[in-house]
Amino acid sequence: MQELRDKYIHAIASATDEAALEELRLAAVGKKGEISLKMRELGKMTPEERQTAGPALNALKDEINSALAAKKTALSDAALDERLQAEWLDVTLPGRDRRQGTIHPVSQVWEECTAIFADMGFAVAEGPQVEDDWYNFDALNIPGHHPARAEMDTFYIHRAEGDNRPPHVLRTHTSPVQIRAMQAQGAPIRVIAPGRVYRSDFDQTHTPMFHQIEGLAIDRDISMANLKWVLEEFFSAYFGTKVKTRFRASHFPFTEPSAEVDIQCSWEGGTVKVGEGDDWLEVLGSGMVHPKVLQAGNVDPAQWQGFAFGMGIDRIAMLKYGIPDLRAFFDSDLRWLRHYGFSALQVPTLRGGI
Ligand code: DAH
Repeated sequence: MQELRDKYIHAIASATDEAALEELRLAAVGKKGEISLKMRELGKMTPEERQTAGPALNALKDEINSALAAKKTALSDAALDERLQAEWLDVTLPGRDRRQGTIHPVSQVWEECTAIFADMGFAVAEGPQVEDDWYNFDALNIPGHHPARAEMDTFYIHRAEGDNRPPHVLRTHTSPVQIRAMQAQGAPIRVIAPGRVYRSDFDQTHTPMFHQIEGLAIDRDISMANLKWVLEEFFSAYFGTKVKTRFRASHFPFTEPSAEVDIQCSWEGGTVKVGEGDDWLEVLGSGMVHPKVLQAGNVDPAQWQGFAFGMGIDRIAMLKYGIPDLRAFFDSDLRWLRHYGFSALQVPTLRGGI
C-alpha cells in the first residue's frame, strides 16, 4: 500500500495537464483502478485483516482524491496565469498615428473646372482612352495624310497580323469626345469632357500621359462672342480674380475659324501671376466647330453651330498652385503629394474672389 501511495502521489505531482491527471484518476480510483480492485479484495479477508486494511485503503483513496483535486486546481490556475500574461493589453497606450492621404492637384483642379462649368450649364461627357482612330482623327477632319496626325506622336494599339479591326490609338486629345457626345445626345448640346490623353513625349513640360478638358456648345446661334464670355467667366472663377483673355487667329482642322487663347499675366519677380500685368500666356485652343465635325456627330450644320475648346488641366493646375515641374505630378513622391495635395474637405469654390 505504501508503494501504491508513493507511486500515485508522485505521478500526480508531476502531471502536466488535465488529461494526464484524468488518466491517473482512472488508474488509481476509477472503477477498475488499482485501489478499487484492492477494496474489492477486502471481502476475501479475515475480519481481523479487514479491520486494518479497510480504513487504510479508505484513507489512501481519500488522500489520492484530494491530491488529484489540489493538482487540478493548481493546473487551471497556472493556465489562467499564462493566458493573463499572454493576452495582456495596455488600453492606456496612445493610438497609432495614421497619416491622411491628400487629393492630387490634378483631381482637385479637375473638380474645380467641372464645378465652374456645371454652374454655367455644362454637363460632363466621357469617352474611351483607347479610341478608334476614326474618332481621334478622321471625324475631327484630320485625314490620314494630315501632318497633325504625325505631329501628335500617337501611340498605336498593337494588332496581331491578320487582325483587320480598325486601328485604335491611345487618344491624343479629348476632342473625340465631341463626336461621341453629339452622336449620343444630338443638338443643342453643352458639355465638357475632362480626361486623360496620351502622346509619346517626355521633358519638363511634357509627359506621355496628361489631362485635358474639352468644351463643346452647339445651338442655333452660338458665336465666338459666347466663347469669349464663357472662357473669361471660367478663368476669372478659376483664378479667383478678373482675368482678361486675348484671342489669336490660329488653325485647327476641327474648327473654322480657330483661335489660340492667352490669359493676362505678369512675370514680376520671376514668378507668373495670372490676372495682372501686361504679358500673355497661351492656355488653350478653340474655335467654331467645323461643319464636317458637326456632320461626323450627326448634327446638321445647316441648322446648328457652336464653339469648342481644349485646354490642359495639368498646365492650369501648375499655374494656379505654383507647381514648377509637370513630371512631378506623376512621380507619386509622398513628400510632394503631402506638400501639394489638398484636404478631402477642401471643397472647390465657385467664383472665389470676384
Ligand atoms: N485638340 C487640341 C489639342 O489637343 C486642342 C483643341 C483646339 C481643342 C481647338 C478644341 C479646339 O476643341 O477647338 O491640341
